[in-house]
Parts: sequence; structure tokens; C-alpha cells
Amino acid sequence: MTDAADPFFEAYHRDDIAYGETPAPGVQSIIDLSTAAEAGKLKALDLGAGAGRDSISLARAGYTVTAVDLSEMGLERINQRATAAGVGERVTTQAADVRNFDFEAEKYDAIIATTVLDHIPAADAVVVWQKIVRSLTSHGLLAVEVHSSEDPGSDLPPGCNSTAPKSETTGAVVNYFPPNQLAQWATETSANLRILRYEERLEWDYTHGPEHMHGKVSLLAIRKENSPEWYGQPRLFPRRES
Ligand SMILES: C[S@@+](CC[C@H](N)C(=O)[O-])C[C@H]1O[C@@H](n2cnc3c(N)ncnc32)[C@H](O)[C@@H]1O
Repeated sequence: MTDAADPFFEAYHRDDIAYGETPAPGVQSIIDLSTAAEAGKLKALDLGAGAGRDSISLARAGYTVTAVDLSEMGLERINQRATAAGVGERVTTQAADVRNFDFEAEKYDAIIATTVLDHIPAADAVVVWQKIVRSLTSHGLLAVEVHSSEDPGSDLPPGCNSTAPKSETTGAVVNYFPPNQLAQWATETSANLRILRYEERLEWDYTHGPEHMHGKVSLLAIRKENSPEWYGQPRLFPRRES
């Protein structure tokens, strides 16, 4: 893919690779929930994997990861970073549109979609969402982030009325999520999910290009029948001193 055909080419080509190396918070929670012993047997799917901050973190934690993205520059970075981190054998990259990816039923123990369902039209995003939830195992965990209609790049209010600075990659986002949209999907009976954490908020982004504001939605969910003890949220009760 050429620079012109890949809106993320420059963001992943530069030395200071976009989005950094810290995984998305939901991905960190998934890692925290997985014991090292089980992680060695677990499969993760990272959709719109970019330059691989989530894929590499999951691979370091022992997951076998399939990283899918349209950006060949991003996939090249993932392969370089995985090799440098000594986890090259645990990461497989696939150049594909998430809309055409072959989602096998109940295959993945973790599915990550950090800012990709908002890069495809709303009518396609719901179809991909349904494939995602069918592709989770019975104990699977799901971490999704999307841009919200609060984002200054949004064509919907209130974002479209904002004067806050927009991201350098705003042009690639075509589907800003209105309030509660993702929560609504996650609570449909057919999704068979239980929400562990859900947030909608504005946040400054310093991880790429000139600093800018984002309206973000983040979801961490698990299959309904599971009850993990703790999943990275602030604790509700003070901890006993040991
Ligand atoms: C905002 S970036 C996020 C990258 C990564 N998930 C992260 O958080 O570091 C969005 C990524 O989605 C990819 N993308 C956009 N549309 C896609 C599609 N239809 N299929 C696969 N990847 C896509 C882009 O190439 C880009 O790498």
C-alpha cells in the first residue's frame, strides 16, 4: 500500500510512532485478568491493530495474537516491534479490512477493537460488532474504544460545535458514536455480554501529532456467565493492610 492509499502511513512511518507503546486501558485490564499460565494458551484478535501497542502487550503477556489492519506500514511496525520484544512467534499480522475478516465462531479469548469501528460506516460497524461477539469464547473478554459525537472532529453535536483542536487523523473517522450507542449494543440479549466497565468522556491526546482533544467511548466486557474478582477499576472498598 502506498503513502497516498494509507491515511496512517506517515503516523506509523515516523520515528516517534503514533499511539506509543502503552496498551489501551481495557487491554491492560485484560492482561491483568489473565494469569501467566493460562495466557500461554489464550488467543487474542486485535482489529485495526495499528502499529501494535495492544498486540505486542498481549503477546508479552503470553497471548497468541492475530493483528489485523489495512495499513501495511502499521503491520510492518508490528512485526518489527514483536521481533524486538522477543515475541515474534506469538504475533501473526494480516492485511485485511475488518469487514472482510473471517471471524470463526467462539475462537478468541480476547478481542480488541481500539478505534476501528468508528473508521467504517455505521451500517458496517454493527455487522462487524455482531461478528466480534460471536467470535468470543465462553469466557472471552472484549475491549472496544470508539470516538464519540463529543469529539471535535464529529459531524454531530456537540462535537461539531467544538473549537478544541482536532486529531491529525480526524479525516479517517467516519462514524462517531452517539451517547450510549456502544452500551446499547453490549446490553442486547443476543450479545451475551456483561459490561465490566464503560465510559464516555473527553480527553486530551498527546500520543501523536499536535496535542488535540478526543471524545471517547470505552467498553470492557466479558461473557455473562463469568465473574472476575477485579478488572482494573478503582476499588470500591479500601484494602485490608497486610
Ligand atoms: C486510530 S488507529 C488505532 C490503531 C490501534 N488500534 C491503536 O489504538 O494503537 C485506527 C487503525 O484502524 C485501521 N483501519 C481503519 N479502517 C480499517 C478497516 N476497515 N479494516 C482494518 N483496519 C482498519 C487503520 O489503518 C489504523 O491503523
